[in-house]
Amino acid sequence: MKMEAFYSNNIKNAIQNDPPGEWMPYIPADCIRLSSGFPAPSLVPVKQLKESVGQLLDEEQDLPLHYLGTPKMDQLKQQIIERLDEREMKFAMEEVLVTAGACQAIDLIARIFIDEDTVVAVESPTYMEALEIFQNYTNSFMEIPIDEDGLQTEKLEDLLTERQGNGLPLPKVLYTIPTFHNPTGTTLTAERRTHLLKLATQFDFLIVEDDAYGDLYFDDQPTPLKVFDKDGRVLYLGSFSKVVAPGLRIGWVAATKEIIETLFWFKKDLDHPFAQAVMSTYLRDYPLKKQLSLLHKSYKEKCDSMIDALAKYMPDSVSWYVPRGGYFVWMKVPGEDTSKLLEQATQKGVSFLPGKYFFLNQQDGKEWLRLSFSYEEPTAIVDGVKKLSEII
Ligand SMILES: Cc1ncc(COP(=O)(O)O)c(C=O)c1O
Repeated sequence: MKMEAFYSNNIKNAIQNDPPGEWMPYIPADCIRLSSGFPAPSLVPVKQLKESVGQLLDEEQDLPLHYLGTPKMDQLKQQIIERLDEREMKFAMEEVLVTAGACQAIDLIARIFIDEDTVVAVESPTYMEALEIFQNYTNSFMEIPIDEDGLQTEKLEDLLTERQGNGLPLPKVLYTIPTFHNPTGTTLTAERRTHLLKLATQFDFLIVEDDAYGDLYFDDQPTPLKVFDKDGRVLYLGSFSKVVAPGLRIGWVAATKEIIETLFWFKKDLDHPFAQAVMSTYLRDYPLKKQLSLLHKSYKEKCDSMIDALAKYMPDSVSWYVPRGGYFVWMKVPGEDTSKLLEQATQKGVSFLPGKYFFLNQQDGKEWLRLSFSYEEPTAIVDGVKKLSEII
């Protein structure tokens, strides 16, 4: 029996796109992984989490194993609110929703705001899983190019003005990663942050600010867009995936009470009480500040190793953006198709992600690639860059 006839129109449209994760190229296990956007295995606090699991079960017995009942789900939300408060973002309990990672928050947001003809504005390039999620709801996108200073707000203004002039629909939602962007590692300047917020008011769209990497700064922590949001236009997303452990699947969205109530309506109790309670116990017993300062030091060292190795080994034609935090270095190899380069690279024992996966029009990313310094140790990073330079 053919099931497709039973699907909703939305699903019929969505499955015309590539299946999720299709972009992930095959990487042999013995490669130096400059492709992986994951935390370094040595930086996941395994021992502390093990202690937290034991401590939680001693304290609460079966409670965190029920649908509801553990007080630690509310406590986790409170702990998130306290952390946001330290960064000048003030929220009440009703203004935060804990989600199964930032990705679930993106999905819920898409679900409540996006119809099949809704225009979504995205950076070009952008985080491919967010693209995949939005593509499940619409095929109308507006792409705004990125340079070394992040999203080009002047171009955004031109594009919006042009659309308005031509009577075309304006975007309802703009999705951005203003701080330590994936894949480019760039950070939006303060002037562009102000400009972006002004445009949101002028052209009446919401901003989804994905701050998954915001805590991973090397020197200064940029101020989130949300801090300057006067009328509740910014939906702020955070995650513990990059700083504690992605497998716990804990993220959040902070926005107005009205938006949070609507998101909650669809999320219902599809929570992970046990994971949330473990995270809350971990945050109570092991101050996150200590984990973060370890990450700052370690990722800065890894990033410096990568940048030094690039400067030492890459030919002059190759260029890259130097990040001030996060996980990634974005690199341009003029005249090359980086997908083809990947095949040679993996044979030589090093991997990266070809740039094309981060663009709606994959051709736009042909000469670009993403290097990740998060996963490997500094010596392997230098080795990997050297191998890559030999191929280029
Ligand atoms: C920009 C961005 N947002 C969100 C995520 C995923 O967050 P989570 O694991 O909390 O769903 C990632 C992970 O790669 C990311 O790069």
